[in-house]
Amino acid sequence: MKPYRSCFRPEIEALAGYQPGEQPRMTNLIKLNTNENPYPPSPQVDEVLRHFDNDRLRRYSDPDSVALRTAIAEHWGVTPDRVIAGNGSDDILTMIFRSFTAPDLPFACPDPTYSLYPVLAAMQGAPVIRVPLDRPGFHLPADFADRVQGANLVALARPNAPTGNTFPMAAIRDLCEKCDGVVLIDEAYADFADDNCAGLLADYPNLIISRTFSKSYSLAGMRLGYAVSSPEIIAGMFKVKDSYNLDAVTQAAGRAAYLDQDYLRDNVQKIRQERDRLTAALTACGFEVNPSAANFVFAAPPDRDGEAYFRYLRQEAVIVRYFPGDVTGDYVRITIGTPADMDRLLELTRHYLANR
Ligand SMILES: Cc1ncc(COP(=O)(O)O)c(C=O)c1O
Repeated sequence: MKPYRSCFRPEIEALAGYQPGEQPRMTNLIKLNTNENPYPPSPQVDEVLRHFDNDRLRRYSDPDSVALRTAIAEHWGVTPDRVIAGNGSDDILTMIFRSFTAPDLPFACPDPTYSLYPVLAAMQGAPVIRVPLDRPGFHLPADFADRVQGANLVALARPNAPTGNTFPMAAIRDLCEKCDGVVLIDEAYADFADDNCAGLLADYPNLIISRTFSKSYSLAGMRLGYAVSSPEIIAGMFKVKDSYNLDAVTQAAGRAAYLDQDYLRDNVQKIRQERDRLTAALTACGFEVNPSAANFVFAAPPDRDGEAYFRYLRQEAVIVRYFPGDVTGDYVRITIGTPADMDRLLELTRHYLANR
């Protein structure tokens, strides 16, 4: 056999690759590690799936996802040419990094944030400017907009992952004012927050807002996300997307889920309530819990040994997410589950602390 010779681009050869959260095969565990929703998707999704005409699968899906994008655009009060849909918001992020980063077009983000961003930048061979968040609290530094000057793309997750906190609207506006490049506000968790950046779109044509159906719509397994921006940016993103990036079932079921805003609101309300209860209970146990506007909390146990707490919970079949590292290693990220899930987590936590 001819010996293998790597033909990968040097950037790809050197790439460590993104580490997604564990998707364990074991059943009977409480899975709180990838910010999924503990409640089922809207009953409207059941309807679509039950009545879907399989014969439609012979044909390619709509490459432009028109019906879905139109529903989203109507809700946002914009024209459909300002909306693009993707196979999860990770697909949207891929389009954005393909479009706006390159070896001479740097990328900037806070640190810590969603760890996929630097991986996508590395695939493009783009330099990464990381601006550490201020502690305690993981706040955006006051001079953030100045420190990301020169970046062609700046991404902020708002609420931020894995820290859960949000950033002041005034800071986002300041960034949009000062930034010469494109500003991406990743609103994967915005449905769980008190506000969002939709109102800034009218003022800033270089602003992109991305959203996902994975969290608040309980559709992580379906893979659906979207972005809203100016018609110019959306038209450019269409040029780099995979032609048929959304299958026909996802387009139909996603649209049905989106139209059921009452169901979304109810679930979000339940999760916010549990988030507040968990925050208070962990704080009472001596944890440092970063104030969260998302469907998870970032919490450091009293001895700040995030890894030991993570391992203990895992051994008891409760899976949370641990991010090794100087700053993040003190904490674990806990997805908000059902009240029963949170009761079990708290029971184990009290037992853990009593036996340390
Ligand atoms: C900040 C942030 N953006 C985007 C995503 C990706 O979501 P999706 O499932 O839509 O690809 C995640 C997933 O955890 C996330 O935390």
